[in-house]
Formats: sequence, structure tokens, C-alpha cells
Amino acid sequence: MDTLGVIVLAAGMGRRIGAETPKVLQRTSENSLIGHVLGEVLPLAPKLSVVVTGFKRELVESEVSTSFKTECAKGSVRFAVQEQQKGTGHAALCAKESFKDFVGTVLILCGDAPLIKRSSLERLLSLHAEQKATVSILSAELNDPASYGRVLREPASARVIAIREARDCSPSELLVREVNQGTYAVDSAFLWAALERVTNTNAQGEFYLTDIVEAAVSEGQTVVAMPLHDVQEALGVNDAYDLSLINAELNSRRVHALQRKGVFMLQPSSVFIDPTVSVNLSVKIGPNVQLKGNTQLSAGVVIDGQALITDCSVGENAHLKLGLVASGAQIGPGAQIGPFAHLREGTELAAEVKIGNFVETKKARLARGVKASHLSYLGDCEVGEDTNIGAGTITCNYDGFKKSVTVLGREVFIGSNSSLVAPVTVEDGATVGAGSVITQKVTKDSLALTRAPQEQKDGWSKRKRELHAKQKARK
Ligand code: UD1
Ligand code: MG
Repeated sequence: MDTLGVIVLAAGMGRRIGAETPKVLQRTSENSLIGHVLGEVLPLAPKLSVVVTGFKRELVESEVSTSFKTECAKGSVRFAVQEQQKGTGHAALCAKESFKDFVGTVLILCGDAPLIKRSSLERLLSLHAEQKATVSILSAELNDPASYGRVLREPASARVIAIREARDCSPSELLVREVNQGTYAVDSAFLWAALERVTNTNAQGEFYLTDIVEAAVSEGQTVVAMPLHDVQEALGVNDAYDLSLINAELNSRRVHALQRKGVFMLQPSSVFIDPTVSVNLSVKIGPNVQLKGNTQLSAGVVIDGQALITDCSVGENAHLKLGLVASGAQIGPGAQIGPFAHLREGTELAAEVKIGNFVETKKARLARGVKASHLSYLGDCEVGEDTNIGAGTITCNYDGFKKSVTVLGREVFIGSNSSLVAPVTVEDGATVGAGSVITQKVTKDSLALTRAPQEQKDGWSKRKRELHAKQKARK
């Protein structure tokens, strides 16, 4: 194959997405737009790559120099300046000087189309070589071709004859659904002369790179358009809506890759997974789940659905039942959480812990086998192995000024609806009677209860009913 050179067009401002940041520095959930494009093209080992910068060029150059340090230091990635943004054709021409000793194929890419895959670039270059083409482009058949440039073909032969920008199209040309993705493989011997001849007599008054297609055709050169298998690769970012489509596509690529690896999902379209998340084999994920930040799911974890999980590690075979918000929590192997639980920062749950419905934890270290099955707040506490925390237990950790710690030993039993007023300790094997307010240490194996003694007044209810009936009869 010919020697390969690359130009990435990245000088534009991106009027439609806000002028503060150059468009190619807009970020997807994974990378900057330009980072995506260079990340796919540089593995093709081009002899030379030139990034054309202009609008706020120091920002773009600094991002590229940081992300592709080695290539920039070696000089295999360089920058060319386009002082004024006069169009994509003019931008490409600004790289001419860097290519003065270069003979081969120049692959030109738009810095704002981040979904392009290395495999498609390889297929384009192979086709370009095989067809001995002068210009080869990537195209995509879109249901909504929107403002993309249309690929015009001669009706009889289906040969490509031009790329027409949407704003310059006739009504019938606008009906064409095959669009220009914005990647071009061009013979260097043709490229520079053709770019010099491009004019700006079009609706936008810009020098269009796309005009080299018509120029090559008029010279009788071979031009080919290779339709992409995956039309999503054609998505370019011109506004905030496009960026949301790109993020959705990147998410669905991650989701599909996990499914191929053996992660089960009931409704993959409702699962959102950050690129930083790691998911092990045979994990099962139900609908409406968001996994964010530095979250790690071990093998066999089951998430029933409706969960927002951020920066959590989840041990093997843990079962996260329906309705969970968890952030900064460690969940041990075999733990059962929820339904409807809220695990906050600093929650550390050892193996086989059971957290039931409507339980909130924060800075809570629960040892193996602890159960808090219903309606509790466990904050700033340490709980020993196999302790049972009854429904409605509250650790009163805040006195209005500072937080204090509750320490419960192993095999403690806290009766329902108890308040543990911190700082307080309940030692191993002790029991707290239901409804108690514990303000002092409960010693090992004892029973503590603070309830008022129960009183009973025989026949009281019956007398009350009779009195009420009499009063009603009098009215
Ligand atoms: C361009 C193509 C269109 C194609 C679409 C695919 C042209 C004339 N049109 O349109 O056929 O369907 O991409 O996404 O090429 N840039 C510069 N300097 C400039 C102008 C632009 O460096 O003077 C850079 C931009 O930073 C951007 C890229 O070139 O990375 C494309 O420019 P943009 O204005 O987005 O072109 P589109 O209208 O999307
Ligand atoms: Mg664009």
C-alpha cells in the first residue's frame, strides 16, 4: 500500500455548539472529539499526521500534545495553522507545506466526527488502493440526511460525480440519502493542485474540500464512495443534540461489547455505563440502570433494575434488588441490598450483609452477616458480625453541631424502633428492647430497655364506646 499521510481538520469554531470551546474539544463521555479521531487514525501508523488548527488553536494544540505526547515529541503529529476559517478546502490546503516531500495517499478527516472506526479507515484505504482511485470517500445512507453533504451519483452507472453541500442542493438533490461522512483518501499528486483550484462560489462563500470530488471526475480520474456498514459512524457534531446522539451511540457500543463478553441485560437500551466502569462476566443487569465513575461489578452480581450506582465496588454474587441509589460504597460478596435502599459515601458492607427496604447507610461499617432488614438509618457506625438491627432503628449521629459514632458489637440484637444516641456502644451479645432510646453503654450479653412500663385499664375501651353511643342518641 502507498505511504500514508493524515490531515485532521480542527480549525473551526463550531458556531452551533457555543463559541467558548473550539468544537473539536467538546467532550463525549470518553474523550474530546479530536481525541477520538486521532485515537482511531494513528494506529494506522501514518508517516506524518497534521492537525489543522485555527480557532483558539493553543487550546486544541495543548489537548493534542498532552493526549498524544509521544507522537508529537517525535514529530509524527504536527500542527498547521489556518488563520482564518475559510472552509474545509482552505483548511486542508493549509497543511500543504508539511507535505512538501510527501508522495502517497493523504487521508483527510474531520475532527468533529468522532465515531469513525479504524476498521472503516482500513477498508477505505484498501478499496482506494485496489481501485487505483484518485479520491475515495466514506459515505452513509441516512434516514435523515439533514445538513450533511449529499453524494451525487450518475443515475445510469451509479458512479460518484460530486458531493453537494445541503445548502447548495436542488430540491431533488436534497432527497438523496447517501451522505458524505467527511473522510477522504486522496492521491497526493492530485490533492494540492486540486485544492488550489477550489473556489468559494457557493451558498456559504467557503472553500469546500468536497469540491475536489467533482474536480477529479472532470479530469476523468477514478472516484469511489464506500458506504459505511455502520451508519452511526457518519455522525458529526455540529450542535448539542448531535453530541447527545454521539454519547448515546458510544454508550450503546459499550453496552453491546459487554453483552458479547457475557453480561446479561434485560433491556440494554435503558442501561448507561460510564467508560470507567468495569463489569465482570455473568453479571445480570435489569432495566433502567446507570453505572458511573469508578464502579466495579464482580462476577455473578445481579442488579434487578432502577439503580444509580456511582464509585461502588460490588463483590461476587451480590444481589442488588430493585431501586437502589449507591455512591462510594463497598458491597461485599453475597450481600443482599434493597429493594429501595440508599447506600452513601463510606458504606462498607462485608460478605453476606443484608440491607432491606428503606434503609439508608453512611460511613457505616457492617461486618459479615449483619442484617438491617427494614426502615433504618445507619450513619457513622461500626457493627460487629451477625448483629441484627430491627425495623426503624436510627443511629442518632448528629447533635446539631457534630457527628458521633455508634459502635455495636457482634451478635447484638437491636429491637425495632430504637434510637441509638451517639456516641454510644452496645457490647457483644447484648439486646436492646424495642422502642428504646439508648444513651449509655450497654454491656456484654445484657438487656437494655428504656420503655415506660405498660399499664392496663380493664374495660376502658368498652366504656368509651358506650359513652359515645349515648351522646350520639341524645342529639
Ligand atoms: C462537512 C462536509 C460535509 C459532510 C460533513 C460530515 C464540507 C464542505 N462539508 O460539513 O459534506 O457531510 O462535514 O460531518 O467539507 N474546519 C476547519 N476550517 C474551516 C472549516 C472547518 O478546520 O475553515 C474543520 C472543522 O473544525 C470541522 C471540520 O472541518 O472539524 C468540518 O467542518 P464543519 O464546518 O463541521 O463542516 P460540515 O458543515 O459538518
Ligand atoms: Mg461538521
